Amino acid sequence: MTKAIGKVVDKAGIREFSFVATQYFQGDFVELEVVYSGGKKAATIVGEIIHKEATNPYFEKPSAINYLSEKDESITSWNLYIVKVKPIAVIDGEGIRKLDFPPSPGTNVYSAEESTISHVLGLENQGIPIGHLKQQGSLRIHLSEDLLCRTHFSILGRTGSGKSYFARGLAKCIKDRGLIIFSPTEEYNEIAKDINAQVFSKQDLLLPLNTSYIASIYGLTLQEEILFGQFMEKEMSFTQKASFSNQEIAHKFRAMIQAKRKEKPQTALFDIETFDIEGSSRGDATKDKFPKFIGSLLSKIGSKSLFFSKQPMKVPFSRSTIIDMSELDLESQQVIMMYVLSNLLESYRDEKKRRTFPKVIVMIEEVHNFAPSVHATICKNKIIQVAREGRKLGITLSLISQRPRHFDQTVLSQCGTLFLFHIPHPDDVEHIFGISPIYRRDLVDTVRELMVGECLVLGDTARYPLLCSVNF
Ligand SMILES: Nc1ncnc2c1ncn2[C@@H]1O[C@H](COP(=O)(O)OP(=O)(O)OP(=O)(O)O)[C@@H](O)[C@H]1O
Ligand SMILES: [Mg+2]
Repeated sequence: MTKAIGKVVDKAGIREFSFVATQYFQGDFVELEVVYSGGKKAATIVGEIIHKEATNPYFEKPSAINYLSEKDESITSWNLYIVKVKPIAVIDGEGIRKLDFPPSPGTNVYSAEESTISHVLGLENQGIPIGHLKQQGSLRIHLSEDLLCRTHFSILGRTGSGKSYFARGLAKCIKDRGLIIFSPTEEYNEIAKDINAQVFSKQDLLLPLNTSYIASIYGLTLQEEILFGQFMEKEMSFTQKASFSNQEIAHKFRAMIQAKRKEKPQTALFDIETFDIEGSSRGDATKDKFPKFIGSLLSKIGSKSLFFSKQPMKVPFSRSTIIDMSELDLESQQVIMMYVLSNLLESYRDEKKRRTFPKVIVMIEEVHNFAPSVHATICKNKIIQVAREGRKLGITLSLISQRPRHFDQTVLSQCGTLFLFHIPHPDDVEHIFGISPIYRRDLVDTVRELMVGECLVLGDTARYPLLCSVNF
């Protein structure tokens, strides 16, 4: 071992201790050789430096400053560095464990060897290489894919902090699982080749043409559903087309009703053949207007920008998929997500089918828009269902958000690993720690001080919270 850099000073504790160094030194980790249990056991305490302070006893006397400035001298050789350390663990013959005895004042402190840091932090040489340890650039951080996917994980941070960059890098390194990436932007399309994924964009996002399905998407009332069902039955030739938009359906529906009105102005309600249009039988000024509930049905169906087909989209669970929803409005994106997640759950719940598919990671960008904390969305329950059941079915959710407060707490609480990028507001960080199973209030400031492309890795994949400079 090299020369000691300092000695532990008084009031050393198991959560924190200080040492004094007479010379400035590099590095953020230290190790101490200690003996305990009455001199019987040798151990190495490894700690992380959390604060450094310079003091110079000469300058404690104001008069000395006056004397020195006249002589234009400086006495930096008198400098002492008081260094605060947070112990990470103690390594002894039995393994690595939490420090449960304080180091004695006077114990020598050394800069930690790379192998010791690596050992105590549980850094592996294999797995997903996400970057290097911020404090020790020469040490790479690898994550175990299996540990990462044991439950779900979240990637959180303010806008522009590096979440999507990280998620793309991570996706490229996944070896044993398929990926389904829901992206409200085009930014994932660039990795399609790397992950051998099929990209679904606007024209491919086709939903099934089925009355009850359409009724559930648009929240049709029973009355509206019956009427719409009758329309679908009558207009089968129209439905032979490969695909058509909701606007086309609404247009056709409107045209059909207009035609019927001309044919038979006085007809009975609920039958499209003999359809009664309120008011028309009275032959008054409302004649050319649609009755309220048809108007409501038409506006519901015309609202989202969706496409339907007899041959709806089929996400191939046997390979990776990128769902580029950039040209859809938010509600339509929610419908697509609901549809794909329903299919996914249905397929993976079936044990026989499941055996033929790889395990899968479902990445959801901007998850606060799909599973918000307060109100319901068309896909929120599906996301919650996947969060609850996914682990046993081999489905891992990867949830990405710049607004951790605004995304559903049940979902967040199911995440076993957190990747926290820069989050400026302490309340937001505390909120995350308050909900997730990982509680580290002492790291709130660390998260606030992160730079773009840096993250804190916490949970199942990291034995000790790791500060990572992301670099794939
Ligand atoms: N580790 C990194 N190395 C180099 N560049 C990075 C790194 N992380 C992020 N960047 C760059 O910083 C910018 C913002 O990153 P990114 O798009 O990942 O942010 P974000 O957290 O996803 O933001 P938003 O919430 O707005 O989507 C991008 O131009 C990206 O290339
Ligand atoms: Mg992003």
